Amino acid sequence: MRHCDSELHVMGRSEYVDDVTPPAGMQHAAVFGSPVAHGNIKTLDTAAALLIEGVSAVFTFSDIPGEGYFGAIVQDEPLFADEKVFFQGQAIALVVANSYENARKGVAACSVEIEELPVITCPREAFAKGETHQELRVFEKGNVDPIWETCDTLVEGSIDLAGQEHLYLETNRARAVPCEDGQIKVYSSTQSPSATQKTIARILGLPMNKVEVDVKRLGGGFGGKEDQATHWACMASLAAYLLHKPTQLVLSRGDDMRMTGKRHPYKQDYKLGLDTDGRILAYEVSHYQNSGAFMDLSNPVLERTCLHSTNAYDIPNVRIRAVPCRTNLPSNTAFRGFGGPQGMFPLEVAIEKASQKIGVPPYRIQELNLARRGYVFPYGQELEDDRLHRTWEEAKDTFDLEQRQEHIETFNSENKIFKKGLALMPVCFGISFTKTFLNQGSSLVHIYTDGTISVATGGIEMGQGVSSNMIAICCKVLGVSHRRIRCNSTNTSRIANISPSAASATSDLNGNATIIACQEILAGMKRVASEEMKCEADEITIVDERVYLRGDSSVLDWDTLVLKSYFARVPLMAHGFYAPPNIRFDPVAGWGRPFHYYTYGTCLIEVTVDCIRGTYTINSSKVVHDLGRGIIPSVDLGQVEGGLAQGIGWVTLEELAFSDDGKLLSNALSSYKCPDGDFLPDDIQVKFLENADNPGGPLGSKAVGEPPFMYGIAAYFAIRRAIEAFTPISESETRCPMTPEQTLLKLYPQAADSFAAFSTDK
Ligand code: MTE
Ligand code: HPA
Ligand code: MOS
Repeated sequence: MRHCDSELHVMGRSEYVDDVTPPAGMQHAAVFGSPVAHGNIKTLDTAAALLIEGVSAVFTFSDIPGEGYFGAIVQDEPLFADEKVFFQGQAIALVVANSYENARKGVAACSVEIEELPVITCPREAFAKGETHQELRVFEKGNVDPIWETCDTLVEGSIDLAGQEHLYLETNRARAVPCEDGQIKVYSSTQSPSATQKTIARILGLPMNKVEVDVKRLGGGFGGKEDQATHWACMASLAAYLLHKPTQLVLSRGDDMRMTGKRHPYKQDYKLGLDTDGRILAYEVSHYQNSGAFMDLSNPVLERTCLHSTNAYDIPNVRIRAVPCRTNLPSNTAFRGFGGPQGMFPLEVAIEKASQKIGVPPYRIQELNLARRGYVFPYGQELEDDRLHRTWEEAKDTFDLEQRQEHIETFNSENKIFKKGLALMPVCFGISFTKTFLNQGSSLVHIYTDGTISVATGGIEMGQGVSSNMIAICCKVLGVSHRRIRCNSTNTSRIANISPSAASATSDLNGNATIIACQEILAGMKRVASEEMKCEADEITIVDERVYLRGDSSVLDWDTLVLKSYFARVPLMAHGFYAPPNIRFDPVAGWGRPFHYYTYGTCLIEVTVDCIRGTYTINSSKVVHDLGRGIIPSVDLGQVEGGLAQGIGWVTLEELAFSDDGKLLSNALSSYKCPDGDFLPDDIQVKFLENADNPGGPLGSKAVGEPPFMYGIAAYFAIRRAIEAFTPISESETRCPMTPEQTLLKLYPQAADSFAAFSTDK
């Protein structure tokens, strides 16, 4: 089997929200956003918009019939600015017209007068001024304070870690259709249909059973549509509800980039202490999260940052401090890894610095400190197997680490202008929502009388292949061909209280629920077959669409058994529900067993830096990844390669730039560069760990969506190794991403100094 949408995608025939034929009289909406990042609204003039031909209405905060404020964690965010604005692009008004073009003309005609207030874009500054969304949290294991003086090597420093634009191909959009009796049906590009349903109900003052949300697929989400697809669905619904006309809202790329939040940038301080052998004795890190204007998901993102701050390493004494800081930027949000990458990054910086002091390659320190079975993480969970080590050892052996290192040293001694570097990145990523209650999945399986099957779950297809996985699971459990099975849209009227498709757990949660539903139907069908064949139900199996008795083929085939079951009045549909056992987490104590299990892997990246130009080539990325027993090999491989590519982009090319007054400068694909096929390494090798069934995952599989993202971090350190072969890196603050510009400045520190003087002189 392959990805069930692949043919539709390649032919351009897969349908997204706005591809479906519009209902008669559909209106189009566009958003008027704040031109400044912080201030009091003095006057808002929308009269001119209403004069534009085709414009039928303009809505603002005061038009909201229900609650004007909402939010996943705290309800601190207004749908439209309420007297004040907190970031550039914050929605102030919604213009509705008979066409997309006219709605945008209406937006251009709106004007607002704002009394500007001071703008904060830096989380350290926000923290100093007491602008936080939540108190500073501390996670501790052992006690770092008395350890420092016993260490042979101490390194400390600060980090400026950048955010990342989601850059899903399909920008945010929704279509809302008013229905009889004040009901509303909403097609939304959201990862969280139930949260969207709940928020629309809240905004409109409706009960949830009057709001139906339907999602066929997303053109990518990457976390960006876990919490921030809601706004647009609410706005389309508001217009549809108040005007009694279907309304569609599609964000332009520019609006999507400036109006929605991104991966959280962080400022960080670290301190690492080691003994003479390079064993880590103590680690302290402070995370100042740039959360943006509203809370959104900043709290759980920061929590995962804390849980993954020691990544794959056994460290006896740890102190992690973390605070979400309020700034005048769009609220930053979920993004593949959900704070995990930001947690892992500073420890790798610290290990790199320590390795230089000690005079060994960083991978020796990484290896020496890799966590083993029995290790207890600072939040109380124990490492229950040695697979992390297996991925490390296999990566080292399979990809000839020592030989590659020697090759690079020889190359560097023989070449003046081109320098090579390599780096390894081990990853240990916890699978489960850290908000334990979210770990639940549901599935509805229907078998029709012609023998075809439809499966609908809470899982959202965003390209990651969850629909295909659901089909593959039905196919395996029911013993039929995947050609008989279709995966239905995700719909709040079929499945209630759907958890976001996130945390890499979608196939796990909904896949296990699908197995339960299939097994329930199958049990009834086997009873029918056993009566027919005068045997026990457990002597029956169905393989390749044929019924087997004690392993021998019988005359009964799938189609016949389905019909017989129907006439015997045995249910051919079932609802399965699954919640993983044995997980719990107390967020106040920061203690528990938050994760069902971990996904592991090790990545080796090699690069070549052109030391004249500062440009670089990523030569190879080689990964050993623990996938459990994969469901569909090509889909899993796509997830590993895609995550890796996105991770490489984060630490190399992708540079978000905001002006001091909070304007997004990298606001188009001309000024925001993400990796393309040419940039990515020609040599990508992914080896899956063998004999690695995962008892917690459906059919022995493991969650794969997010963990490969963090492999990309190796690219950052590989580039730095190459730079170091040319000239020592000296810096007061470690900055990520390592763009070619940054690389050039690191290669020529004297030039960097005069460049800095030049930029301050203007
Ligand atoms: N892959 C594609 N093609 N598109 C996406 O939007 N999102 C990622 C990952 N892989 C994404 C993707 C993120 S952030 C997550 S959490 C997981 O997929 C969600 O899906 P899963 O739970 O089925 O792995
Ligand atoms: N991961 C992803 N999304 C989430 C989580 C998480 O741990 N918690 C809430 N939303
Ligand atoms: Mo993924 S960041 O959990 O949507």
